[in-house]
Formats: sequence, C-alpha cells, structure tokens
Amino acid sequence: MTYFSEAERPIGLQLFGSEPELLVRAARKAEKLGADLIDLNLGCPTPRIVRNGEGGALLLQPRLCSKIFKAVVRAVSCPVTAKLRAGWDENRINAVEIAGRAEDAGIKALTVHGRTVTQGFAGRADWEIIARVREAVGIPLFGNGDIASAEDAAAMFNRCGCDGIAIGRAALGNPWIFQQVRERLEGREVGAPPTLPERLAVFQRHLELSCNFRGEQGALVEMRQQAGRYLRGFPGAARIRKSIMGATSVKNLQVLIRRLLNCGNIK
Ligand SMILES: Cc1cc2nc3c(=O)[nH]c(=O)nc-3n(C[C@H](O)[C@H](O)[C@H](O)COP(=O)(O)O)c2cc1C
Repeated sequence: MTYFSEAERPIGLQLFGSEPELLVRAARKAEKLGADLIDLNLGCPTPRIVRNGEGGALLLQPRLCSKIFKAVVRAVSCPVTAKLRAGWDENRINAVEIAGRAEDAGIKALTVHGRTVTQGFAGRADWEIIARVREAVGIPLFGNGDIASAEDAAAMFNRCGCDGIAIGRAALGNPWIFQQVRERLEGREVGAPPTLPERLAVFQRHLELSCNFRGEQGALVEMRQQAGRYLRGFPGAARIRKSIMGATSVKNLQVLIRRLLNCGNIK
C-alpha cells in the first residue's frame, strides 16, 4: 500500500491508529519510504477501525488527538496534515475544536469531510461545518464531501472559502473529473463528458496497469468493480455490469469490453 511512482509526487501517506508511540514509528517509516507528507486519519468510519478507537473514533478523544498531532509533528521533518469528519455524530459535532487543536500542534493543513462518523456515507455532507472550520483556523483547508461535478467543485469553493477540495467517489471510474474541475475553475468551457469508447479505452489501460501491478487475479477482483463505475450513467449499464461481475478471468473481461466497443453501445 505504500508503493508509489515518482510521477505521482508530491506523495502523502496516510496513517491511522490511536497510540501516539506507534504512530510516531509509522510516521518515521513512511518518511523514510519517501513520503512528502504524512496525513493522519481522523475520519474512517469502518467498524473494525473505530472499534479500536482509531480513525473517526479519535474525534471522541480531543486530548488524545492533540497528543498524537504533537508527537507525530515532532517525529518527522516533512509536513503533517490531518483528515477529519464533522464529528462523531450529530450531537457531537466538534470539527472546529479538533481543527484548532491540530493548528496549535503544528499540523500544516486539514481536509474536512462534512459528514459525521456514524453517518458513514449516508445523507448529505454538511458544507456549513467546513465553512465554520475555515473561519476558525488559519492553516490551508481542503473541503470534502459530495463533489460530483465541476459545478459542485466551484460551489464548494464559494460556499466554504476553502483553499482546496478533495474528490473521492466521483473520481472512481471517472478520472476526467479533474480536468473538468480545472476547466471550470479557470473559467474555461467545461468539455463534453467522455464518450463510451473513450471511457472503455481508459478502462482497458487501467486494466493493463492493474494486471502489471497486482497480477491477474488481483486485477480481476479490482477491475470488475471498476468496470461498473466506468460505465455509470450509460443506458443498459446495469445489465452489462452484471455480466462483467461474472467474468472469471482478465481475458474474459477483455472480451466483454471489446464486444461492447465493437457494437458501439451497451443496449
Ligand atoms: C472506497 C473508499 C475508500 C476510502 N478510503 C479512505 C482512506 O483510506 N482515507 C481517508 O481519509 N478517506 C477515505 N475515504 C473517504 C474519502 O476520502 C472521502 O472523505 C469521502 O468519500 C467523501 O468524499 P466524496 O463525497 O467526494 O466521496 C474513502 C472513500 C471510499 C469511497
């Protein structure tokens, strides 16, 4: 999971944990591996993570957060950043407090996802809390949650006054979103969405790279999921997704995709 290529720099490696001493060791290791920055995870809602008091569960322990921030900042020479959610649940919204503690401890930038931990991915992200964090701290702030288009990206900047944005799910199977966001923010006309052949060509390249990186079996598991995302929104996508999920080998997957390309539509 720590593999990266030089072309990807600057690289941030994210750590989750709850024990300051362990996080210090992990941060030093990550820096040695070549990370340009270390990011601390205070947002993950996955049960097996929060059960251990890690990820989003750290928001329930503000003093421990400060301890972790200070220890990791002291331990490495690269910048340390943090990613947090709005709070644990709707009754415990404390992103502003945690952000203040982060700034005081020398954290260099923050990303705030406007959902609570218990919300998981349900409901809507509350951009208001991002705006409140913006008012409360002076360090660079990245807004996150529910940016699905170039228009949403512009709206996030306007509404939250953040310095940057982070896009998660909307980029899955849709790497074009970054180009579209850039066009919108630079005041240029946002290009037409990619056609089905364009999407499938990038999918095929993604598949090839995944095979090189993970081997065929790993690539098959990963790319069956990804295929559905690349096809999102096209008529007939649900049916073809089903046959793709049944692909038993990479070759099988490639044949299905080629067939799609040849017939030009997926109906
Ligand atoms: C498959 C998946 C994996 C994720 N893994 C991480 C992670 O390792 N660390 C993290 O901080 N957030 C992780 N997230 C959360 C996203 O960074 C982001 O906060 C969340 O998806 C909301 O943004 P979005 O609406 O743009 O997707 C993950 C999200 C998804 C969907």
